Amino acid sequence: MGLNQKVEMITGSGATPILVTGGAGFIGSNFVLDWLKTGGPVVNLDKLTYAGNPENLASVASNPAYQFVHGDICDAELVTALLRQHRPRAVVHFAAESHVDRSIVGPEAFLRTNIDGTFTLLRAAREYYDSVAGEERAGFRFLHVSTDEVYGTLTPEAPAFHEETPYAPNSPYAASKASSDHLVRAWVHTYGLPAIVTNCSNNYGPYQFPEKLIPLMIANALQGKALPVYGDGQQVRDWLYVLDHCRAIRTVLERGRVGETYNVGGGNQRSNLEVVTTVCALLDELVPESKFKPHRQLVKYVTDRPGHDRRYAIDARKLERELGWRAQESFETGLRKTVEWYLANAAWVKDVTSGAYQQWMAQNYAGRDAGGVSVAAKGRTIVASGESAR
Ligand code: NAD
Ligand code: TYD
Repeated sequence: MGLNQKVEMITGSGATPILVTGGAGFIGSNFVLDWLKTGGPVVNLDKLTYAGNPENLASVASNPAYQFVHGDICDAELVTALLRQHRPRAVVHFAAESHVDRSIVGPEAFLRTNIDGTFTLLRAAREYYDSVAGEERAGFRFLHVSTDEVYGTLTPEAPAFHEETPYAPNSPYAASKASSDHLVRAWVHTYGLPAIVTNCSNNYGPYQFPEKLIPLMIANALQGKALPVYGDGQQVRDWLYVLDHCRAIRTVLERGRVGETYNVGGGNQRSNLEVVTTVCALLDELVPESKFKPHRQLVKYVTDRPGHDRRYAIDARKLERELGWRAQESFETGLRKTVEWYLANAAWVKDVTSGAYQQWMAQNYAGRDAGGVSVAAKGRTIVASGESAR
């Protein structure tokens, strides 16, 4: 049996493709790799910003069911042509500027990609949807991947975000994602585009760019660099293993109701300090020969992020109840897998942390040193300077 036949058996590459945007980023590449195992052909449109890495998809680069298109979601002509050419059964929209700290330093790119880009995609998708009929039309979906950050921040006792929680975005990133969610809503309501929105909590797992908390801490700890904890480290996030998120997206694509929002969360609320010290303990165990042990001594409190949201937590009961999805990974097993992946993929980390990454690290962290105090010096009771009381 030839390779093409084999691939066709596995992926059904004769079948209708899906169009993924931002598939070379963290969640997108996990999704594409997972989808190609069983889901059928994929066309991946990605601009390859600093966060997009074709290496993530090297293992499927020659798979005939996978096609990469290097381009911008703001390019209306390109998006329209891709929809006409591939006639996808769904658009799964991951492409975004995604890092809150970068949105504080330079919000323009966030407004452009997250708002204008989503608008461009919606306009093209509507035109495409209006041009098809029958099963093609009935089955078409536009799935917009969004974030829990659109809901703002929670006090420690407040109930978790649910689908009816009012929007109250606090960072330029969150505001741009909230805008894009509103655009999707309007395209459903006004034009009847069969779109669905998912709002998920903080993802973690393989291929996450080491500007985000967990991979940054792993990469720094392995090199004996400081582990910069913002403020008092007591901010809480609800951690979702990336493959649980990918399964949720597949479920929503298959069975989600058009026009609905589904919240996706891992049910793992942890303070940042807990996350960082757990990463350190795992590294102590998995790299016993490290000269930086115990890695916890590298923790350093630094000046807080402006407007830092205190707590996020997701109520995912709608997705569980209506569509039968459940997170399968516990935080303990997921974090262990993640640390093991970064240890086994040192070359990937080295590759993405050269060049422009170093400039970002200097820009984001250089000014935060003042007032930073190491945990080793003062124990867990420190409240660092700059913590906003929410
Ligand atoms: P990422 O930053 O790792 O990847 C983004 C990808 O989009 C990159 O491959 C980049 O090259 C591509 N891209 C950026 N601008 C583009 C443009 N104009 N045209 C085409 N491609 C472009 O992001 P991620 O963490 O994988 O997040 C994916 C989606 O999930 C985003 O929409 C994000 O808002 C959302 N989300 C992420 C998290 C998380 O914890 N990572 C949590 C909630 C929601
Ligand atoms: P991040 O991974 O940037 O995700 P988000 O801001 O979207 O939640 O940050 C997760 C948490 O970790 C957030 O509360 C900010 C904090 N954090 C640090 O304490 N130090 C760091 O160096 C980074 C990048 C984040």
